[in-house]
Amino acid sequence: MSTVVLDDVTKVYPGGHLAVDRLSLRAENGELLVLLGPSGCGKSTLLRMIAGLEDITSGDLWLDGRIANHLAPRDRDVAMVFQNGALYPHRTVRGNIAFPLEIAKADPALVKERVTELSKALHIDETLERRPGTLSGGQRQRVAMGRAIVRQPSLFLMDEPLSNLDAGMRTELRMEISSLVRALGVTTIYVTHDQVEALTLADRIAIMNRGVLQDVGTPGQIYNDPATAFVAAFLSSQQINLLAPQVRTPQNEYILLDFGPHQITIPWTDPRAYAVSQHTGGHIIVGIRPDALAPVPDTFDGPSFHGRVRTLEYHGHEWLAYVEAGLPAVTVPEPPDPRAAGGPAAAGATGGKARSMMRRLLSGGAEPEPETPPETNGQALSGTHRRADLIVRLGSRPVWRAGETARVGIDLNRLMLFTSEGNRIDPPRR
Ligand SMILES: Nc1ncnc2c1ncn2[C@@H]1O[C@H](COP(=O)(O)OP(=O)(O)O)[C@@H](O)[C@H]1O
Ligand SMILES: [Mg+2]
Repeated sequence: MSTVVLDDVTKVYPGGHLAVDRLSLRAENGELLVLLGPSGCGKSTLLRMIAGLEDITSGDLWLDGRIANHLAPRDRDVAMVFQNGALYPHRTVRGNIAFPLEIAKADPALVKERVTELSKALHIDETLERRPGTLSGGQRQRVAMGRAIVRQPSLFLMDEPLSNLDAGMRTELRMEISSLVRALGVTTIYVTHDQVEALTLADRIAIMNRGVLQDVGTPGQIYNDPATAFVAAFLSSQQINLLAPQVRTPQNEYILLDFGPHQITIPWTDPRAYAVSQHTGGHIIVGIRPDALAPVPDTFDGPSFHGRVRTLEYHGHEWLAYVEAGLPAVTVPEPPDPRAAGGPAAAGATGGKARSMMRRLLSGGAEPEPETPPETNGQALSGTHRRADLIVRLGSRPVWRAGETARVGIDLNRLMLFTSEGNRIDPPRR
């Protein structure tokens, strides 16, 4: 049993590469915490620092209430499983799982009992006398897990253990990992880049981008109430619609989100109204998942867009529609890459930088004020100057036809509102 606390932890690799940037996070006793983020965001680096395989550049790691920065890996009581759980090829499955106990000179009767018990839990009891070379990928990962957990570590670390398996095996083993670590009650930190894995497995998810922690919460909290546009987009199973309206407050009667060809009003009674009104005159980012949009009749007088249905896409369990509504779309705003500058992370974009980033993000050029010339280094923001289609989830029936003009109703409660830097305007409570 163990708690893990990361306090303002930074990792700079030799050569100056900033891989983890002032990250603070806590894993509770017995919790299954999933570290989620795109490839290269620093997940493995963080896990390896917890395991003691990588030095911590600055900040503190606490294991079970004690500073652990300088503890040797073997003194941390931590077990780790990697993507390619390497096994001893000349030992049987039984020999592989028993190995850590044999090294610790455990009583042979106890070894036998533990191996039998674990191999049953992992559904590899039929393979105990076989060599790893004769096993499937899924079976090999089960053996690697058995070997890691056999000495009952206080902390179990898994780095993308399912990434090399085919889809069916991934789902099966995912469920088994979930029940195994919960049955053992061992604190587990599980790394993945797969949002479905994270949502299905986690007690809580910590989501990272470019070495920076973006959000932490239960799957429901961070899916429904994400802290940043990055989190909203990363956790969306269908691509999220990100739009960039201007905020106006005509005669102070209501708040108008002005998308150019379309407007949406937000009444003052909306709990987010005051926070949004602080952006009057400026642009914000609105995130709308495709399932927060729905076909409505042309007579609908609630919040809606209209446009031409360009194409319909069949996804088996649902249809998606791509609607040309003349809306300027943006991509997820990224902070300037601190690694490109070679220094430690700057404290977010400055106002001027954020404005010019916003100008480049905006495709419609609703406000073509010429300021400083656009930055050309770093960010790959080309390709964002477009009027993207609105993606609408239709459910199991394609109620529209390609080419027709359609009205799209908007679930106002599910509009997510972000600043131009991508932070929530009405911060979620955690
Ligand atoms: N030993 C190393 N030396 C220098 N840079 C590294 C080293 N290991 C990883 N990196 C870099 O640090 C960043 C984070 O890597 P990593 O933690 O492996 O990401 P993830 O596991 O999220 O894919 C990447 O840009 C990677 O190239
Ligand atoms: Mg990794």
